[in-house]
Amino acid sequence: MSPAVDPQRVWRELDTLGGMSDAEAPAVTRVVFTETDLRARRFFKQCCEAAGLAVREDAVGNTFARWAGTSSDLPAVATGSHCDAIPNAGRFDGTVGVFGGLEAVRALQHVGYRPRRSIDVVMFTSEEPTRFGLGCLGSRLLSGALAPEAAEQLRDAERRTLEDVRRGAGFEGRLAGVAVPPATYASFIELHIEQGPLLERAGDHIGIVTAIAAPASLRVFIEGQGGHAGAVLMPDRHDAFLGAAEIALAVEHAARGTASPHTVGTVGVCDVFPGAINSIPSRVRIEIDVRDIDQNRRDSVLQAIAAACEDVAARRKLTIRTDRINADAPATCAPEIVDAVSAACARRGLKSQRMISRAYHDSLFMARVAPTGMIFIPCRGGVSHRPDEYASPEAIGRGVEVLADVLATLAE
Ligand code: GLV
Ligand code: MN
Ligand code: MN
Repeated sequence: MSPAVDPQRVWRELDTLGGMSDAEAPAVTRVVFTETDLRARRFFKQCCEAAGLAVREDAVGNTFARWAGTSSDLPAVATGSHCDAIPNAGRFDGTVGVFGGLEAVRALQHVGYRPRRSIDVVMFTSEEPTRFGLGCLGSRLLSGALAPEAAEQLRDAERRTLEDVRRGAGFEGRLAGVAVPPATYASFIELHIEQGPLLERAGDHIGIVTAIAAPASLRVFIEGQGGHAGAVLMPDRHDAFLGAAEIALAVEHAARGTASPHTVGTVGVCDVFPGAINSIPSRVRIEIDVRDIDQNRRDSVLQAIAAACEDVAARRKLTIRTDRINADAPATCAPEIVDAVSAACARRGLKSQRMISRAYHDSLFMARVAPTGMIFIPCRGGVSHRPDEYASPEAIGRGVEVLADVLATLAE
């Protein structure tokens, strides 16, 4: 059986979706529970319903489009990813796995295949941490990794709670009902762009993911003393931004200091108060992202950052408080799914390599509830989280073909 994937159909859908954005094209900004995100959700549901799938949403907005299997009492197979996009992002991160999942189902339908297990195409809510500070919100709750009580306390930049915002967006019901009962899913497989350069460099078509690196993030509040930028002399200052700057350099130093290429550290948020050129910063908030495939090494970097914060606070007479947003374990992909992806590539004569995902994905949490795997496709220059992110229709088509093959194997 060779499923009839239509790369142009999924390309057109991604094009339509790309137009649903709060940034000027080609940039995409689609933040969870904004009107733009809700439009994208409606579009996805329409496409699924047109394919005859039964659509259901949970209380946090995770959306499940089910193709019922002939033995629908068996644990189902799931595929999917996310459609939210960080500010000033591209069109392909996450979306390829959602609409590619749907296309894989349509391709299997087209050749008359009937799955034994039901197949769910899932669009997870807020894989990106943009609004509530925590990535993989939907899959964290679904897997039980995030307690509903903790989720209810999350707030956005306007201090609105997740509880308030999701209900305002029309998602009722209790967050406690989002976690799936054990053995809901027999397996999970996610198609995604690589977001790195290795496939393109090697001229490979498919990346077979074996493990997903462990992410952690911190929010650091630094408080000093404000004052007049002309009148307060340098020895008398307690500049909160300079403390933040030292901590940012300490993040770089600690990440480089492990001597492993797998350790990475980034300060992607720096909010300076009061933010006036002639005013010494009195309060600063920075957010730090640290990742490694090795959890202990990642944690050693977190310890080094904590030590740097203490040192900076003492030397500069600043008050520094650190909140740990998350520090997750890495995930290992299930050998049988890795083998199924490998076999599909071999059957189709596609060049592949096994690789680690340095980015996190909903798979990081789905791996806690079901054997999980990931299929990567190349993206131009390895670029992601940027407006010029690009994956060709051919690359997407190949990824969807492999996904369809693997779904057919897993659904038996
Ligand atoms: C997901 O977008 C990540 O930051 O890895
Ligand atoms: Mn992303
Ligand atoms: Mn993604």
